[in-house]
Amino acid sequence: MQFDDVILGRRSIRGYKPDPVPRALIEEILALAMRAPSSMNTQPWNFYVVTGEPLNRIRAGNTERMAAGVPQSREFRTGQAFAGQHRDRQVGVAKQLFAAMGIARDDKEMRHDWVMRGFRQFDAPVCIIVTYDRVLDGSDDTPFDCGAVTTALVNAAWSRGLGCVINSQGIMQSPVVREHAGIAADQVIMKSVALGWPDETFSANAVVSERKSVAEATTFVGFGG
Ligand SMILES: Cc1cc2nc3c(=O)[nH]c(=O)nc-3n(C[C@H](O)[C@H](O)[C@H](O)COP(=O)(O)O)c2cc1C
Repeated sequence: MQFDDVILGRRSIRGYKPDPVPRALIEEILALAMRAPSSMNTQPWNFYVVTGEPLNRIRAGNTERMAAGVPQSREFRTGQAFAGQHRDRQVGVAKQLFAAMGIARDDKEMRHDWVMRGFRQFDAPVCIIVTYDRVLDGSDDTPFDCGAVTTALVNAAWSRGLGCVINSQGIMQSPVVREHAGIAADQVIMKSVALGWPDETFSANAVVSERKSVAEATTFVGFGG
């Protein structure tokens, strides 16, 4: 697969085949991802690759606690609720996904099911929990570096025929994740990445999300006319 095919073809995958993913393939993908640049080459990232029973326990604990109204306890700052163009984009992709899944706007039950799927990491066979070294807490470089390696990870996975969705939903209940993934005390949980073989029959997997244009995002300076 060429670089452009990976970048333009990759989509977030939210429906997976149950087939396992070989450990050697995950190691290969991680090795590619870890070529990502980082601030001063500090490489603050670490990965907990979870499958089988421990992952099922994370899914169950996350879902049960969220359903019981336990406040979320993610370990990163979320800032204010989205507004304006950011809110519009959030709603835009949700509309695309719900349309693909045939979930009507007022269908509370189906919408609830969809949220619960997210809390279960979309039933992916593997979850990679991205953490960083706690000693680097407080530097904005650290989450930036985690983003770089995670983007490289999802693209590397795609190049091998695997699908991913980076997610915050699967790590809503930090104590559950910490317990069942055995996260070390010197690590902070940044994000999780659901990983597996895409189920081509799952309609939301075909959704191509929109992007603002280069012109909207970019200010060229000193280029002349
Ligand atoms: C930091 C981050 C957190 C995300 N959290 C979730 C999530 O909790 N649930 C979900 O379904 N998608 C989540 N996503 C996926 C985004 O919705 C998705 O990347 C975006 O809509 C663009 O779509 P694409 O990945 O298909 O290009 C997350 C992505 C990122 C980068």
